[in-house]
Amino acid sequence: MSIAEAVHSAEGTEPGVPLYQAEGLTRTYAQKGRTVTAVTGVDLAIMPGEFVTIQGPTGGGKSTLLQLLGALDRPSSGSLRFGGAELARASARELNRIRAEEIGFVFQGFNLIPTLTASENVNMALEPLSLGRAERESRVAAALAHVGLDDRGSHLPTELSGGQQQRVAIARAIVKRPRVLLADEPTGNLDESMRDEILTLLENLCAEGITMIVVTHDSAVARRATRRLRLANGRVQDITR
Ligand SMILES: Nc1ncnc2c1ncn2[C@@H]1O[C@H](COP(=O)(O)OP(=O)(O)OP(=O)(O)O)[C@@H](O)[C@H]1O
Ligand SMILES: [Mg+2]
Repeated sequence: MSIAEAVHSAEGTEPGVPLYQAEGLTRTYAQKGRTVTAVTGVDLAIMPGEFVTIQGPTGGGKSTLLQLLGALDRPSSGSLRFGGAELARASARELNRIRAEEIGFVFQGFNLIPTLTASENVNMALEPLSLGRAERESRVAAALAHVGLDDRGSHLPTELSGGQQQRVAIARAIVKRPRVLLADEPTGNLDESMRDEILTLLENLCAEGITMIVVTHDSAVARRATRRLRLANGRVQDITR
């Protein structure tokens, strides 16, 4: 089964039904007796297959929103539905399952484990899924081939270029066959040509059915989006032209 088929057969991914639906989504932090508001009153629907970018000033709430969307953090108030699940009320166990099976993460700093090869790094993402060894190995090989690195599986991260390291991180994110890929400044550490390579890869994955949500300061990244959002002072604004 291809990644796209796997995504389309995923439960709850139906046309016309939002992948995410936020209503009054708010996250505040208690900080030395003060309340810091990071995200406030966000209403938002993201449909399957969208390529959404989130821009905005530093401290605007972008990473906080991405963590909420990634079930890494819980809202202080409001509602956030992902497929059929209400993330604001899901048990820790259910959030763990959603993160392990349905959401891929990509970070600016790649976050590869330096002592593991590319294949081993990708394989790590399958740890929480109960798959046999042969299935895991074939999925890892397919994911590395998908990002154009079939001949680099035995390399350590230090034996790869920055763009290649980010490709390994993307392979690690897609090997679980997620419904959505969440990326925080995925091209922030790359030069222009590597950035464009990674963007094309993300665009292709999106065309195969993986919803993309990308935080970025780079307007070249935002130009690839089907929808552009801006987050400032914790509030979201649609700036798609
Ligand atoms: N764990 C935390 N405890 C207290 N305040 C926090 C915490 N995390 C974030 N904040 C505050 O929430 C606000 C939003 O932060 P966030 O990291 O989401 O911004 P951002 O848009 O990602 O910024 P940047 O572009 O610099 O990455 C900031 O004012 C920040 O200081
Ligand atoms: Mg941030």
